[in-house]
Amino acid sequence: KGRITVRDIADAKRRGEKWAMLTSYDAMTAHLFDEAGIPVLLVGDSASMVVHGHESTLPITIDELIPMTSAVVRGTRRAMVVADLSFGSYQTGVEEALRNAARFLKESGAHAVKLEGGRRVIRQATALVEAGIPVMGHLGLTPQSVNTMGGYRVQGRGDAGAELLVDAKALEAAGAFAVVLECVPAELAERVTASLSIPTIGIGAGAGCDAQVLVWQDMAGLNETPAKFVKKYADLASVLATATREFARDVASGAFPAPEHAYR
Ligand code: KIV
Ligand code: NA
Repeated sequence: KGRITVRDIADAKRRGEKWAMLTSYDAMTAHLFDEAGIPVLLVGDSASMVVHGHESTLPITIDELIPMTSAVVRGTRRAMVVADLSFGSYQTGVEEALRNAARFLKESGAHAVKLEGGRRVIRQATALVEAGIPVMGHLGLTPQSVNTMGGYRVQGRGDAGAELLVDAKALEAAGAFAVVLECVPAELAERVTASLSIPTIGIGAGAGCDAQVLVWQDMAGLNETPAKFVKKYADLASVLATATREFARDVASGAFPAPEHAYR
């Protein structure tokens, strides 16, 4: 059997099967996550922060994301690879959205793209789907809008919840195959999930979603100061720090390399 497709994703919702998504930005982690059975990998614009060290997701470009996406596609056999349309690559209009999404599919082999927003990007979402490009939506805390949100804060409380549901319905009607719900009250995410025929993928959105996504460095504990919604499944930061200190110590003392690490 080949790659996971949008049909498999739709079938999972019909069967009530929950699934996990992770971000990935390179071939080696992508291979590992693929072999571990993660069906969908996201080359997120979170790379702007966790790979490039920027303060937000705004600076990263399509040109920077394409090589990472190519690497993730090459590292995987089974996973569907979703590429994040970066800030400024689709907001300007339908044509630029189509051009940039097509670049991801043509130049990196991505299988789908993700964009942030609901009704405000519905023309773009519709055009991409009509062009044969699967679209994943993203509602709630949309990090590309950090400056209008006034920081990274929970979204969809009170009356904003009804607005979010309308946006989710609009994305579904436009043909989106899934929608990420980020940092919204669990009750709202549950209500949206029940109202949609396409799966919701939660991050900081409680247990009621059809799927869950985490940034892999958060999941594995490489990020030492993650958000409240993160569960650390490992303590990679301390594993890596200890290994690094031991390596440096062994080199300084002459304990490494030993004879078995040398050629004769
Ligand atoms: O860029 C990203 O990592 C994301 C996920 C957190 C959904 O958009
Ligand atoms: Na993103």
